Amino acid sequence: MIRIEDVTKRFPGGQEALRGLTLSVDRGEMVFITGHSGAGKSTLLRLIALIDRPTSGQVIVDGQNTARVSRRKIPAYRRQLGMVFQDHKLLYDRPVFDNVALPLIISGIGYRDAGRRVRAALDQVGLLNKEKRHPETLSAGEQQRVGIARAIVSRPKLLIADEPTGNLDPDLSLEVMRIFRRFNEVGVTLLIASHDLALIDQLGCRRIPLENGALQVEKDRDEVSDYFEGAGAHSPEDRWR
Ligand SMILES: Nc1ncnc2c1ncn2[C@@H]1O[C@H](COP(=O)(O)OP(=O)(O)O)[C@@H](O)[C@H]1O
Ligand SMILES: [Mg+2]
Repeated sequence: MIRIEDVTKRFPGGQEALRGLTLSVDRGEMVFITGHSGAGKSTLLRLIALIDRPTSGQVIVDGQNTARVSRRKIPAYRRQLGMVFQDHKLLYDRPVFDNVALPLIISGIGYRDAGRRVRAALDQVGLLNKEKRHPETLSAGEQQRVGIARAIVSRPKLLIADEPTGNLDPDLSLEVMRIFRRFNEVGVTLLIASHDLALIDQLGCRRIPLENGALQVEKDRDEVSDYFEGAGAHSPEDRWR
């Protein structure tokens, strides 16, 4: 679903956010990008969402080379993916319904169809009875779920999320992850940037650790053991004897 090939992103000041990064995410996977603050997680997601372009290398999403998506075609490109942010960027002067309907209205879907889809999306995040509320009257967790409903209302095949639980306490974070997990179970591919390792371990999903804009090379003990077990050896210790 996503192929990142030897991608470098250098900012005008000379700052290199990504350095020769290569990775891929299969269709139907739920994967976490982890790494310290400044590791390049947001930059990677921004390249996938075509908010920004790489300095060199290829970003291929659902078979499309993003380098060939012209400015004019960016809105159509973005409609196939859902985006969730830590700061959910809701419109505070509009009710929940309008916030979730926004992507549909922009893409010109009729009001009746939009209503049906908005309610289906709100139902999936457990907010069906809150469509008339204004975001500021909702809790932080509910506001984030409105952001998720808006991201999935166009039924994207791919959902990318940048620190979606960054502002939430552990219980609410787990609830958001469970919602993501349910999307994943019905075939949505998810790529989520997070540094909440405890939460990720609880979910048991694949992790892609970034460090200074590249894949983290240093293997920790568990990964070394996994490798040897996978290769049929008894343990790293046996192997070294
Ligand atoms: N627009 C920008 N201009 C210059 N440097 C940037 C810009 N955006 C990000 N960076 C730098 O790129 C590196 C990676 O940033 P980012 O992708 O936001 O990391 P993360 O999301 O993992 O915290 C950081 O060193 C950051 O300061
Ligand atoms: Mg970030």
